[in-house]
Amino acid sequence: AAPAAHAAPAGSGAPAATAPAGAPAAATLPPFVNEPDTDPSLRANQQWARAAIQTAAREGWLEEQLAPETVAADGVEDLIGSVRQAALAWAARPAAERARILYRTADILAARRGHLVSIAAAEVGKSVEQSDPEVSEAIDFARYYAHSALELEEVEHAEFTPDRVVLVTPPWNFPLAIPAGSTFAALAAGAGVVHKPSKPTPHCSMAILDALWEAGVPREVLRGVYPADRDAGRALVSHPGVDRVILTGASETASMFASWRPELRIAAETSGKNALVITPAADRDLAVADLVHSAFGHAGQKCSAASLGVLVGSVYDSERFRRQLVDAAASMVVDWPTNLSATMGPLTELPSEKLHRALTQLEEGERWLLEPRPLDDSGRLWSPGIKDGVKPGSFFHLTEVFGPVLGLMRAKDLDEAIELQNATDFGLTGGIHSLDPREVRRWAEEVQVGNAYVNRGITGAIVQRQSFGGWKQSSVGLGSKAGGPNYVMMMGTWSDAARAG
Ligand code: SER
Repeated sequence: AAPAAHAAPAGSGAPAATAPAGAPAAATLPPFVNEPDTDPSLRANQQWARAAIQTAAREGWLEEQLAPETVAADGVEDLIGSVRQAALAWAARPAAERARILYRTADILAARRGHLVSIAAAEVGKSVEQSDPEVSEAIDFARYYAHSALELEEVEHAEFTPDRVVLVTPPWNFPLAIPAGSTFAALAAGAGVVHKPSKPTPHCSMAILDALWEAGVPREVLRGVYPADRDAGRALVSHPGVDRVILTGASETASMFASWRPELRIAAETSGKNALVITPAADRDLAVADLVHSAFGHAGQKCSAASLGVLVGSVYDSERFRRQLVDAAASMVVDWPTNLSATMGPLTELPSEKLHRALTQLEEGERWLLEPRPLDDSGRLWSPGIKDGVKPGSFFHLTEVFGPVLGLMRAKDLDEAIELQNATDFGLTGGIHSLDPREVRRWAEEVQVGNAYVNRGITGAIVQRQSFGGWKQSSVGLGSKAGGPNYVMMMGTWSDAARAG
């Protein structure tokens, strides 16, 4: 797809194409374009990926690499104090300087693509097909937020004061793109960052931080830190010197943080229970491919994954559709990432209780169209599962299970489909496959999701073109979407003039 032009200055409402030539953002930085993924069908790229992954596996280099600092509860005061101090000078630099450092970071990440892909394979078992686009997304975030940094200075009649310290707590399922995006946004705004890697993915996080340090972010402004224990974690989140937390993870974690410190400013992207609606007016071949890819990519371990297929009327009743779907899922190559033909990889951790229930049990009225099976003794490698007859209000209808199980539901018409889709507490992603514009319009008006996709899969948002954020319990305190025009603007406070205007 053709990359879109660079974002219009925030608040101007004008598309970039009509922005005056020589506007400051364009003058200092190259225009934003999305970084292309590696083409995995090219033999040279396959060899490259295999070599990267095998090197990581063979040399066990993970042990020796950069590790996050460990901080105990009584070290939190010093840590926060020091980042607060350093952040003043960072914020005082011209935005153009911070932007250039982010552009340099993007170049470093691009040069290290193979290395990054190999760490994601080693730490979370992510396949090359899934991790390569993450590197592109991380690069996009760096360049996009660099432009946002410049745009902050273009806002007239308003004073922006960046946060001094932003605590970034990313998830493990997108171990490159999300740690990168959250950290870049805070740094772009002029904030200092305490980055707490997710437990299973310290090296992915540290590889991102390493690129930032090398590009010119001072070490005192950006710290990679593991709390020594739960007390230290609580002390960190509760410290009044932390101005904001960017959290991507379970909604329970967001609630826990809020209970520790009720006045905490938090930007949280949390759980989802996402459905793709397929109506009789759909291109069914396309719908099958998108449903399978959205449900089973990265073994369903995405907050954005399709967990439910809501099939309207004759689609649900079609044996042919069902067979196509099952055949497509059954033909996935499920294996560890060293097998470059793998289209579905392992679970990162042993199944949670919820996932185990979804993988091994049927509720009333359900039956397996494709029963998931463990493929080796690790407990982590499962073949994909499809259950039919999921009942409204049931466990599987309403619970996020975060794994390779897809449930099918019947809706008699579009209205009922939308009702089933909106019935969950979450509202992250959702989609419709229909070639009838009236249906699509109706659906788009009613569906309660942050990311609504039409005639496409429901995972894999793209920076600038499809910014990413949730609704209902999928989002806490987030006013704007990652990879979109107002995200960096959120990392600070605005003067009264801005609020009034
Ligand atoms: N951004 C990811 C996606 O769109 C989810 O975090 O799939």
